[in-house]
Amino acid sequence: MDIKGCIAVVTGTSSGIGLHTAELLLEKGAIVYGLNRRESPVGHENFRWIKTDLSRPEEIAQAFGMVRRADSPIDILVNNAGAGVFGDVEKITLAGWQRAIGVNLTAAFLCTKEVVPVMKERKKGMIVNIASIAGKRGFKGGSAYSAAKFGIAGFSESIMEELRPLGIRVSCIFPGSVDTAFFSGTFLNPAKLMDPREVARIIVSAIEIPDGILPDQIVIRPT
Ligand SMILES: NC(=O)c1ccc[n+]([C@@H]2O[C@H](COP(=O)([O-])OP(=O)(O)OC[C@H]3O[C@@H](n4cnc5c(N)ncnc54)[C@H](OP(=O)(O)O)[C@@H]3O)[C@@H](O)[C@H]2O)c1
Repeated sequence: MDIKGCIAVVTGTSSGIGLHTAELLLEKGAIVYGLNRRESPVGHENFRWIKTDLSRPEEIAQAFGMVRRADSPIDILVNNAGAGVFGDVEKITLAGWQRAIGVNLTAAFLCTKEVVPVMKERKKGMIVNIASIAGKRGFKGGSAYSAAKFGIAGFSESIMEELRPLGIRVSCIFPGSVDTAFFSGTFLNPAKLMDPREVARIIVSAIEIPDGILPDQIVIRPT
């Protein structure tokens, strides 16, 4: 897809992978809407932050309503926002579990529902879901997070099959550990970390692949 002139919505653009993805999309000529709670430190004239708590369905609906009123139809959706909820299963509270599933999975479902009808009408569009290696294998302390990331992997594969015949591409990215604020305040301390700019470059490259080709799953690991 040629990114120039596209309307993109990226969730979680206040830091990390989402911030760099938004910046790269802007560099390539897209108009980008960033949905997150904290203000995004993006200084580009074609960037618009819509303050959104993605754990609140009504705020997601309001945000997409604003995009629809302000601009032409959405071409690209990147479901990137994520919440790291870690700990042994008996220590995870129901609220923590619901936060993990809510932000990592339910928000992606709701954002997808907002864009699919118009993408179907136009027979074009791209949805990129950011899963994790934790969406391919579980690990100690990862029950809530892994459940959410396995969930988004299954969600992605299903909508990929649903939408592929209609000209809409769905891609699921499975990064290993990335050098962002994600691990701060957790017991996790990965030995090797990837640069979030490079991960963003891979996400944007997947979008740029010509429309006739569908990169449905991309697994990225540190060497
Ligand atoms: N870092 C890694 O090693 C790694 C590895 C594999 C996959 N991932 C995935 O990559 C994605 C991005 O993570 P990151 O590493 O870039 O971490 P990050 O720097 O902590 O960014 C997380 C983003 O998610 C947003 N977010 C969290 N809860 C939200 C909520 N309730 N409503 C709206 N936005 C919310 C945050 O925005 P606000 O706080 O401003 O709301 C922030 O912009 C996540 O899905 C994560 O699971 C990360």
